[in-house]
Amino acid sequence: MSASLQSSAISSANSRLSLRDRFSGGSSSDSDVFRSISFSSNLNNLSLKSLQIPKQAHSSRISAVVRVENNLSPMEIDTSLSPRVNSVKPSKTVAITDHATALIQSGVPVIKLTVGEPDFDTPAPIAEAGINAIREGYTRYTPNAGTLEIRTAICRKLQEENGVTYTPDQILVSNGAKQAIFQAILAVCSPGDEVIIPAPYWVSYPEMARLADAKPVILPTLISENFLLDPKLLESKITEKSRLLILCSPSNPSGSVYPKHILEEIAKIVEKHPRLLVLSDEIYEHIIYAPATHTCFASLPGMWERTLTINGFSKAFAMTGWRLGYLAGPKHFVAACNKIQSQFTSGASSISQKAGLAALGLGYAGGEAVATMVKAFRERRDFLVKSFRELDGVKISEPQGAFYLFLDFSSFYGAEAKGFGIIKDSDTLCRYLLDEAQVALVPGDAFGDDNCIRISYAAALSTIQAAVERIKKAMIPLRPAVPA
Ligand SMILES: Cc1ncc(COP(=O)(O)O)c(C=O)c1O
Repeated sequence: MSASLQSSAISSANSRLSLRDRFSGGSSSDSDVFRSISFSSNLNNLSLKSLQIPKQAHSSRISAVVRVENNLSPMEIDTSLSPRVNSVKPSKTVAITDHATALIQSGVPVIKLTVGEPDFDTPAPIAEAGINAIREGYTRYTPNAGTLEIRTAICRKLQEENGVTYTPDQILVSNGAKQAIFQAILAVCSPGDEVIIPAPYWVSYPEMARLADAKPVILPTLISENFLLDPKLLESKITEKSRLLILCSPSNPSGSVYPKHILEEIAKIVEKHPRLLVLSDEIYEHIIYAPATHTCFASLPGMWERTLTINGFSKAFAMTGWRLGYLAGPKHFVAACNKIQSQFTSGASSISQKAGLAALGLGYAGGEAVATMVKAFRERRDFLVKSFRELDGVKISEPQGAFYLFLDFSSFYGAEAKGFGIIKDSDTLCRYLLDEAQVALVPGDAFGDDNCIRISYAAALSTIQAAVERIKKAMIPLRPAVPA
């Protein structure tokens, strides 16, 4: 049957097309509800293949289901992306977590030890402060840099806990520490500048450097040295292009904590290079296991002027979803970051800032609420370290902070797993453990160290115990291919 259609406005869920042409030819078929018309015609640069028109439709304005076979050639829609985006690697942590979540949703009992967030609820007084903020209508924009109230409280915290003096105009509150870090990198790096990053590193540092058109310079560390940067190696890698050194202590992913004497050695090196600044990510500061202690890099002699200190509420206060972090540094740099933020997101959530204020009011280092969480993390860490020390072929550096264990399984690389194949690297090992043990972990490769895998112990002890049992069961039959 031939079909014809005259000048009609046709809308569908996705498109609104004006048909100015008269079509003829093609064929039509009927169902109870629709008349389908198939044809081939180009209009408005779209190649229309068929229409489904409700049978009751009549008149010149037809609301129809339009099936546009999108056979547009790439020349018609430019799908290219900025080279900036193409230079960035997607987050493996997110990819593996999504994969594990999909398996769980399809009924596979996967234990997920991939996430970088506390398994605890936000302490009640903090949550209450947020709720009260909403009830009291404290729901408007705040100053871009954060309220004076919270910036003053942050200054007090930095003075009392870290021995560093700042004024509120030297503080910028952001939507999470992640934003503060990215803005700091954007603010100080020119294209081609080098950002020195000890590995293993938090996944975002090198990608952020690339997004800022800077060049990440990765410095390896050794598990036998607790993944701490060797100051001599640092010294040998500094060039006139070196702009930023990123330190993270306690570290994600290794849990290492820099002892003060190593930081002092690093500070002496930094001092000799006036172009070099330090971004000191101290977000895990409170999650630390005595006798380890935290040293704020800015508190070291000569380093206040050179340091951009990052901290936040996500980890210590179990506030990942509140999105609240901050930067403290010399006014000149903070003002630059403030400018970026003002054109980017504006200030952090007013509600979260009230909650953050309550967090800072919990007492020294977060008071009892944080101490209780740290105690639980420590118990889990102790269990994990003891368990993996019993597993032949695994190398361990006992974490002194944060809630991750970064285990060296490289002695198993080259081993063959029955029904799976060769364990080649951290990626295949994690896939094997997901398949065989149904435990999701993150390959060390994502953190710049392919010898290792990361276990997050931000999960109940009973869950961790079950995971260890499964991992051991999967690993014991795989004899290390090379002696550990
Ligand atoms: C080392 C480190 N820095 C910064 C962040 C960012 O924290 P947020 O943006 O949640 O404050 C994270 C989060 O995983 C982290 O592990």
